[in-house]
Amino acid sequence: MYPERFGSLPAYAFPRLRALLDDHPPGGEVVQMAIGEPQHPFPDWLADTIAAEAAGFGRYPPNEGTPALRQAAAGYLERRYGVTLDPDAQIMALNGTREGLYNAAMALLPSEKAGQRAAVLMPNPFYQVYMVAARSIGAEAVFVPATRETGFLPDVAALPEELLARTAAVYVCSPANPQGAVADAVYWDRLLDLAETHDFKILADECYAEIYRETPPTGALEIAAAKQADPERVVVFHSLSKRSNVPGLRSGFVAGGPESLARIKQLRSYSGAPLPLPIQHASARLWDDDDHVEENRRLYRRKFALADEVLGDLPGYTAPEAGFFLWLETGDGERAALRLWREAGVRALPGAYLAQDAAGGNPGAAYLRAALVAPEAEVLRGLEAIRHVLED
Ligand SMILES: Cc1ncc(COP(=O)(O)O)c(C=O)c1O
Repeated sequence: MYPERFGSLPAYAFPRLRALLDDHPPGGEVVQMAIGEPQHPFPDWLADTIAAEAAGFGRYPPNEGTPALRQAAAGYLERRYGVTLDPDAQIMALNGTREGLYNAAMALLPSEKAGQRAAVLMPNPFYQVYMVAARSIGAEAVFVPATRETGFLPDVAALPEELLARTAAVYVCSPANPQGAVADAVYWDRLLDLAETHDFKILADECYAEIYRETPPTGALEIAAAKQADPERVVVFHSLSKRSNVPGLRSGFVAGGPESLARIKQLRSYSGAPLPLPIQHASARLWDDDDHVEENRRLYRRKFALADEVLGDLPGYTAPEAGFFLWLETGDGERAALRLWREAGVRALPGAYLAQDAAGGNPGAAYLRAALVAPEAEVLRGLEAIRHVLED
């Protein structure tokens, strides 16, 4: 006997990609653009910092994060967004944002609202954990188009009142994976008004907040503070995976209103897996340091420039504002992925694998997602192959 709610989950994107490509030999030296795994170096002091604290592996760590880690996260939010949060009441350590995005739904969202099944809104295409989180609490996952027509962000205001009335939360990803779009102050302002009117939460996935071109993306907390919104409206998720190139460290944090955070902490005191103490210590140092983040951004800027240079004049290309993905309109994303692999050894992900079928079709079907994470020379080779395929 198994739960029905997960029975219809499609295979995850990467097994699907393997099934699409792996019967065919690569048409050249392999360029990895499918997985968004950061590959720039992390600070060289990181390993020593962990080793120096190794005795901490002999202790059970605090679930919510050490005071130093929460203070460092608060310091980062203050420097980056000009917001002041109470590190004791408003911040909690996470093992990366993915599990936090999942567990926040468990801790914060009802299964029913206004006497009906609750709805959890998410962009389409989207980062897949949002959907599983909604299903886990028995809510309906509602996929809101995040297409060229909507500026690649979900247009929540366009949804029917009846749906908004039973909406418990909306997941928003900014900078967005896969589209590279950024929610600006006006977007957050309107969404906060809607959340207030219809009494839902905004779960803001801001794990790409530090990868941008020139202007730092606005954060949900920043706008909520500026308009003195109810602090319980917004819960934000930040990660060191992209900021510091340590996806294997499994370290992030969640921040929001004291009531929301108390509920998340309460659930996790039962079921959470706290970060090992040496990792908490190292994480605090990473949040305290901005120099390595600036250097990381410099490397991504060069890749953005390369992408603009190689693909900029093609109609399927939209220059990403932030994040490290290209979201390329190719006509048929699966076909383009297969061609890239067979003709050039370039692995990129069909957009359909990141989206759900909707009334008008699958909004990712025409797209290909290409990550700019590999070394620069490889990225250049990948971009040139993409140009070749897009031009055809
Ligand atoms: C949009 C988005 N959110 C969250 C995550 C999870 O990252 P982590 O758990 O490493 O913080 C990712 C990872 O790729 C992502 O792309």
